[in-house]
Amino acid sequence: MTGARMPALVLDEADFCLCRDWLRAAAGVELPPSRKPFVAGRLARRVAELGLAGFGPYLHRLREDPAEHARALDLLLSHETRFFRDPGPLLWLRDRLRARVVRAAPARVWSAGCSTGQEAYSIAMVLDDALGPAGWEVLGSDLSLRVLQRAREAAYDLPACSELPPAWFQRYARIGHGEQAGRFRMVPTLVSRVRFEPLNLIGPWPALGRFDAIFLCNVLCHLTADVRRSLVPRLLGCLGPGGALVLGAAETLPEPLPPLMRAVPSVYVLRPGG
Ligand SMILES: C[S@@+](CC[C@H](N)C(=O)[O-])C[C@H]1O[C@@H](n2cnc3c(N)ncnc32)[C@H](O)[C@@H]1O
Repeated sequence: MTGARMPALVLDEADFCLCRDWLRAAAGVELPPSRKPFVAGRLARRVAELGLAGFGPYLHRLREDPAEHARALDLLLSHETRFFRDPGPLLWLRDRLRARVVRAAPARVWSAGCSTGQEAYSIAMVLDDALGPAGWEVLGSDLSLRVLQRAREAAYDLPACSELPPAWFQRYARIGHGEQAGRFRMVPTLVSRVRFEPLNLIGPWPALGRFDAIFLCNVLCHLTADVRRSLVPRLLGCLGPGGALVLGAAETLPEPLPPLMRAVPSVYVLRPGG
């Protein structure tokens, strides 16, 4: 270190627009002008790490280099999440599944845009509580391979345990020792029933089957208006009869309104025949 300061990189309007268009095409995510300082801050460090002359050469590189494409997505997308972020829909799901008298097939729930897995494991705890250790499965998906890797590890820093009701922490988590000191891990019986797969919500999807509920929480609000409008009907096509779409607490359904009825706040159920 010489102590010499690097001149601050300036993200000009043209480069911001290139970046916005790239993110729209790569993930369907909107970058409003108010996010320009955030984009500049996030990418400036990476531009410096790579020793590039500015944002222009970096934007060229991320279009050519798949690893840098993935890295830039990680830098620019919000991965904020926590256990039981919005308990209302989870409790609604538990009560609904408990009330089912005849269950022909395992209950299936999809956490779409699952980030590091806390939402998928919260759903898994609720399903285990409602149905016991079998008879259900959870799919978590995200376009970021880095967050999926962390989700599969199922290990979290101890402060996150305060997000779980104490009785559930005791039942579904184990405190780490040795190299895992300061962390906790979800119990294997839960982890074995939660599958994490890479999936870009704006790309083609593999055959996923039908779900009893799809959690699309705190994802829609980041997407462009066009993507919001086209994504919701695609998701409804993956719901079984009476299936539910769950949004984040501050999110609303896009217009034109799909054939759904609001069951409780943030939970929308397919209308019969819808
Ligand atoms: C704010 S987090 C929400 C996590 C969790 N659903 C929750 O509510 O706590 C949004 C997640 O959506 C993912 N995401 C954004 N655009 C996506 C896309 N086009 N396809 C798949 N995942 C996407 C991001 O990578 C991120 O992990």
